[in-house]
Amino acid sequence: MENTEKKKQIVFSAIQPSGTITLGNYLGALRNWVKMQDNPDYNCLYALADLHTITVRQEPAAMRRNIIDAYAMVMACGVDVDKAPFFIQSHNPNHSIMAWILNCYTQFGELSRMTQFKDKSQKHADNINAGLFTYPSLMAGDILLYQADKVPVGADQKQHIELTRDVAARFNSIYGNVFKIPEGFIPKDSSRVMSLQTPTNKMSKSDENANGCIMMTDTDDVIMKKFKRAVTDSEMKVRYAEGKDGINNLMAIYAAVTGLSYEEIERDFDGKGYGDFKTAVGEAVVAEVSPIRKRYEEYIKDKKYIEECYTRSAEFAIRISSRTVDKAMKKIGFILPKKDQ
Ligand code: TRP
Repeated sequence: MENTEKKKQIVFSAIQPSGTITLGNYLGALRNWVKMQDNPDYNCLYALADLHTITVRQEPAAMRRNIIDAYAMVMACGVDVDKAPFFIQSHNPNHSIMAWILNCYTQFGELSRMTQFKDKSQKHADNINAGLFTYPSLMAGDILLYQADKVPVGADQKQHIELTRDVAARFNSIYGNVFKIPEGFIPKDSSRVMSLQTPTNKMSKSDENANGCIMMTDTDDVIMKKFKRAVTDSEMKVRYAEGKDGINNLMAIYAAVTGLSYEEIERDFDGKGYGDFKTAVGEAVVAEVSPIRKRYEEYIKDKKYIEECYTRSAEFAIRISSRTVDKAMKKIGFILPKKDQ
């Protein structure tokens, strides 16, 4: 028992509560969180990265709403705190402590090379705050605090994982083995879902055209309408090919929710028009999203239960991460206060 427990790999991931959760978040990340939590090879721990969201100015009432909504939606997608604690990052002060420590082991030059920083400082040119710059140290702390082996992330976070590994190795080379060097991994079956209106861009809640993005809270009718309006091409043939971005995206979504291969989809829709295909994709997505939305509506009404879930998860996260903080601080040379028995 002891032994098999030891062999389990630790999985950590987090998502920002910066707005409504989209079909892209679900197919690209959350569905995989659930799969990993149910895999006996892994011990999973998940977080809502609310500290990360204040690198961009937030309206307080909207931020509160977003945190609760995202928490309820992640649970509705199937994350079960009895299998994988799911906590709110700011509830565990160790994240802020570790971020400060790691800031002092991360070079200005390294942070300057982060493409996300360059992108975001262009997008928010009026608020290029220090937090936006040191965001990768906070994220590195999230991961290293739990001695994570595996960190499932989207491709856009790869550079941050590389930095996490570099900083952890640097710290270990000075003080000995304090941090596990984590591995990022982009799950093979996670899909990068593109906008239904501008299929060369990632599906995003900030899409100028609301029809481009499916929200996990969209009703069945709205989902069907958005798929029927999805941008395609003039070839009128359901096949996966370069340049057919709209159809490729619809095929990727359809494959993700039905488990069919591209060849099977091409065969099934041979001789049929785009109208039939769009309807089929819409119906398949509705079949997946509708039960999640209904669960979400139940959870969001039950604030007491949500509160109990995040409180219990935070207690667990604090307990586990305190070991790493204590170890790192002792190695650095801090004197720790006497602990209450
Ligand atoms: N930065 C990630 C994103 O925007 C979210 C995140 C924060 C994260 N901390 C993390 C992901 C730790 C993995 C591990 O998508």
